[in-house]
Amino acid sequence: MTNPATHFTHAISRRPGASVTHGLRAEDRGAPDLARLRAAHDAYVATLRSTGAKVTVLDALEEYPDALFVEDTALCLPEGAVMMRPGAASRMGEVAQMRPALAALFEDLRDIHGPGHIEGGDILFTGREVLVGRSARTDATGVAELRAVTDEWGHSLREVQTPPGVLHFKTDCSLLDPETILSTKLLDASGCFEGYRVLHLPDGEEAAANAIRFNDAVLMPAGFPKAAEMLSDEGYDVRLIDNRDCALLDGGMSCLSLRLNV
Ligand code: GLY
Repeated sequence: MTNPATHFTHAISRRPGASVTHGLRAEDRGAPDLARLRAAHDAYVATLRSTGAKVTVLDALEEYPDALFVEDTALCLPEGAVMMRPGAASRMGEVAQMRPALAALFEDLRDIHGPGHIEGGDILFTGREVLVGRSARTDATGVAELRAVTDEWGHSLREVQTPPGVLHFKTDCSLLDPETILSTKLLDASGCFEGYRVLHLPDGEEAAANAIRFNDAVLMPAGFPKAAEMLSDEGYDVRLIDNRDCALLDGGMSCLSLRLNV
């Protein structure tokens, strides 16, 4: 039997709008190149499809510059989906825009009603548990509201801490297989991955931490040769995606899709 944390029948992504150049960023390191970002997004979707999954690409939403980072709008689990409540005010409206796509796929669709906040980028489902990193976008009240749902669905939820200054928990880690996490040394030092095998990003290549295991492939950002070699040597089927422009918006491989089994 395949593991629902690594193997998926379906993914949902959203085409980047021209407004993506106004997306949120912690630090201004220049404007993304729109044409190059769109080409990289096409390559990302094609790579997901190459694994045999069906990928739905939703229309761009010009009124929401960060809307291509669909992962923050929902958590998809085998039992159903939970619509998130982003901590970034400018992103709150993205959730309602995603809801119809998930309502068409899931019989059990829940909502985080608030007043707390939680974003999908702070959630790592490993198959054995749901890890949620508190961050500037995800607070204790939001985590507690999600916990009520995951308890009902029989999943253990463990609240952990995203390091200060790091956007999301998964900015610094990824699931490579049900036993193995790719993590920055900084995040792993918090002890949150006890019981897992942890591979550390090579020094200087911490920005490659946000990868995704999607069926038999591991999608990771290009430009981190030591990290790519490490994962290839470990036997993973590494696929490199140009993430230069999304990285300017603090976005990575996980942010660009919702991955699900339906
Ligand atoms: N630019 C992605 C985010 O800040 O949510």
